[in-house]
Amino acid sequence: MKISVLGTGYVGAITGACFAELGNEVVFVDNDPRKVSIISEGRSPIYEPGLEDVLQRNLERISATGDTRGAVLSTDVTFICVGTPSREDGSIDLSFVEQVSRDIGDALKDKEGHVVVVKSTVLSGSTENVVGRTMEEVSGKRAHAGFGLASNPEFLREGSAVHDVFHPDRVVLGTEDAMSLRVLEELYDPFDCPVLVTDIATAEMIKYVSNAFLATKISFANEVGNLCKHRGLDTAKVFEGVGLDHRISPQFFRSGIGFGGSCFPKDVRALLSQMHESGLAQGILDAVVAGNEAQPLRAVELLKGHLPDLKGKRVGILGLAFKPDTDDIRESRAVPIIERLLEEGAEVIAYDPLAADNFKALFPAIAYAASAAEALDSDAVIIATEWKEFEDLDYDGKTVIDGRRVEKAKSAAVYEGVCW
Ligand SMILES: NC(=O)c1ccc[n+]([C@@H]2O[C@H](COP(=O)([O-])OP(=O)(O)OC[C@H]3O[C@@H](n4cnc5c(N)ncnc54)[C@H](O)[C@@H]3O)[C@@H](O)[C@H]2O)c1
Repeated sequence: MKISVLGTGYVGAITGACFAELGNEVVFVDNDPRKVSIISEGRSPIYEPGLEDVLQRNLERISATGDTRGAVLSTDVTFICVGTPSREDGSIDLSFVEQVSRDIGDALKDKEGHVVVVKSTVLSGSTENVVGRTMEEVSGKRAHAGFGLASNPEFLREGSAVHDVFHPDRVVLGTEDAMSLRVLEELYDPFDCPVLVTDIATAEMIKYVSNAFLATKISFANEVGNLCKHRGLDTAKVFEGVGLDHRISPQFFRSGIGFGGSCFPKDVRALLSQMHESGLAQGILDAVVAGNEAQPLRAVELLKGHLPDLKGKRVGILGLAFKPDTDDIRESRAVPIIERLLEEGAEVIAYDPLAADNFKALFPAIAYAASAAEALDSDAVIIATEWKEFEDLDYDGKTVIDGRRVEKAKSAAVYEGVCW
């Protein structure tokens, strides 16, 4: 099949590469010319283990362009994979989605039977009411008649995304017309996993409820983890015992300094804003967000228990990416920690094996270490990301506040886990 993918960020680049690996022809589209030229050479525009290998293997099946209209006209199906960030008030910003919907609509004037699939995470109702309506207005054609319209939410995790795309727990197809269902079923035919076919609004909601549930599990783990620490209990043992209940599962049952990244914080905020708008918020998700904002600052409070006056103290930060194996720093928990340390007058020296360059744009004035050992050479260290290499450091004689349960760090002279 011929596929165009609009937006070559984490989701678009990975989805497109994996569809190419399955034998499809893929045209990547981005309005960032740098990404277009990188992808054209079969290189990865983002750091994601294994992605470049997939692109290289499929060079003859991929191309990249900045021309949305041309890409739509030359393909059978278009996946919308542009960003859907948070606005200041937490509601979802659909401006990128609206822009590409106009561009696709313009191409659809000259095309029949094209299928448009929304993979970007959008609130229930948006595919129909924003994407569909916009394309109808611009193209003069009707959704589900002149063109197909569907939702196919993405559940990949950065850092293991290539594996996740080929081995999903499930595929969700939100379709309401036969042409979209046929195209999506054909594309996903090689996948050996449950395929759930729903209406579009249900598919959109499944994505938000999944992310909100996982975020809730993490904030819950942090809240009870704080109590376990206060009571001198080993939180991991408690969670192990609880997670053995098959209704609960041990997955994502870990405490630490909270969740970050491009999805959980913004998706919870967007769902919450839809709940508040509907007058249906009961406080659970408000607490999930509030707990997640407070949790990273506990690391600084614990540090002050050992170094009450941080003024002029050199504090190392180990890990800036929101999780290991990615260079993505969006909503990284290192951000509020560093902000608070700077407010307290500390000197920060930060280290990350991949994400330091991205972080420099946010914090140009702090020091960056060339190695973890250099950052460790400080008055104290806070571990903010569980990079594997932090398990190999020499923590002897150090003061460590561990936000991510790095086992080796327990050998430090002074060691505090954030909630264990
Ligand atoms: N990152 C994840 O782990 C993940 C997982 C599941 C779902 N999602 C969802 O997928 C969507 C994309 O997320 P992402 O992390 O890939 O975002 P991203 O910011 O990494 O990538 C978005 C890309 O879209 C491009 N773009 C913006 N406007 C465009 C336009 N008019 N024409 C062409 N390209 C344009 C940008 O240049 C960028 O390359 C979001 O809705 C997100 O919530 C993300």
